Amino acid sequence: MNRVHHILTFNFCFISYFKMKIDTSLTMPLLPEALSQAGLQFSVATEEDFDEIMGMSKDIYGGLDYLPTRYTSWMQESNRTVILARKEGKVIALESVVVIDDGETMLVEGLRVAPQERGKGVAGVLLRFCSELIKAKYPDVKVCRLTRDDQLRPKDFEKYRIITKQGILLVRFRAEELKLRLSELGLSGGIHSSLWPTTSNAGPVHLNHTTVDQLYLTTDLMKGLLPNGTIIQDWQPFKILRSNLDILFKKDIDWLVDDESNPTVASLCTFPFPVPIGEDWYYLNIDMFGKDLNLARQQFLYHLQRHTSTLKGHVMCQMFLDPPLWKPMADFCRNALKVERVKEYREQCVVEADVI
Ligand SMILES: CC(C)(COP(=O)(O)OP(=O)(O)OC[C@H]1O[C@@H](n2cnc3c(N)ncnc32)[C@H](O)[C@@H]1OP(=O)(O)O)[C@@H](O)C(=O)NCCC(=O)NCCS
Repeated sequence: MNRVHHILTFNFCFISYFKMKIDTSLTMPLLPEALSQAGLQFSVATEEDFDEIMGMSKDIYGGLDYLPTRYTSWMQESNRTVILARKEGKVIALESVVVIDDGETMLVEGLRVAPQERGKGVAGVLLRFCSELIKAKYPDVKVCRLTRDDQLRPKDFEKYRIITKQGILLVRFRAEELKLRLSELGLSGGIHSSLWPTTSNAGPVHLNHTTVDQLYLTTDLMKGLLPNGTIIQDWQPFKILRSNLDILFKKDIDWLVDDESNPTVASLCTFPFPVPIGEDWYYLNIDMFGKDLNLARQQFLYHLQRHTSTLKGHVMCQMFLDPPLWKPMADFCRNALKVERVKEYREQCVVEADVI
């Protein structure tokens, strides 16, 4: 197969791949001298780079890296640009940028630097390089967004506005054991089993694409419920827009609400996928929006019940939820579901900066 090398070095100002001029003189003075001397090269990632990228990605995100599962589909997405940084020909860093929100937002994802190259400013250089590239390719882009779960420094607050924060609850279990536990709790029947015996509502409503459209686009009901009007799906923040729903509809997601005509809690569950932490380990991502603990628990149970019925092996389940719900939900996981908590309280922080 033809391997197409799109080498973009610091030393030119014409990026032939995109057939447009990019004025690197803006970024050049910002580059740490040591790095510009080190002769980093940038290239657009191709399918053939997969093994090398995985080689430098060991232990990323505590073994919950989504890139092995997503890489091939990333290569097909027309609104996505995946850039590699190389040193002496070897891949040492990756950043992916997808343009969303009707072309106004560049969303940075997948950022990683090879362990031996960290702490030298590589990520900062790559971020700036990609920003220049995307600005040239998509002149309508106005803001850059990204989602972080590390401790932000005061310097980061000068750079970014916070769009929203969600608590992160990470638990692990064996699918078969949780299935048994759910059945002990009387939750093994159909979706409308005795899952929610103590409440007056009929249980979560599973939305299809038509009903998602109706609820999210033709009413204002979701605006107040979603954190800062943002649909966050598996770390990706989207504004409520037709074009974004089209992106989301291409993914395997369960969309729930408690009540279509007056939603108090909504959730998105991304179908489980394998992660590199070990053989037969799956990652289950649940984004929960709203402040009502009881309704949030119902939807959590719904998602667990639906996916443990088909899953085998170990599951790392990460739920993102309104921060005050973290503690009671963590207690529920331990006391009622008997599942093990992996980490203490952490936050997912969606941040934004103007693209200038
Ligand atoms: C996080 C990581 C990419 C930082 O790489 P690095 O080359 O050591 O970072 P640098 O030396 O360039 O210094 C940090 C710079 O990257 C930025 N940065 C650090 N973590 C970041 C993140 N998660 N998202 C975006 N930017 C980040 C900092 O803001 C800083 O920018 P500045 O130069 O404008 O101050 C690297 O430690 C890594 O690969 N970690 C494992 C993967 C990971 O956690 N990725 C984060 C994805 S959310």
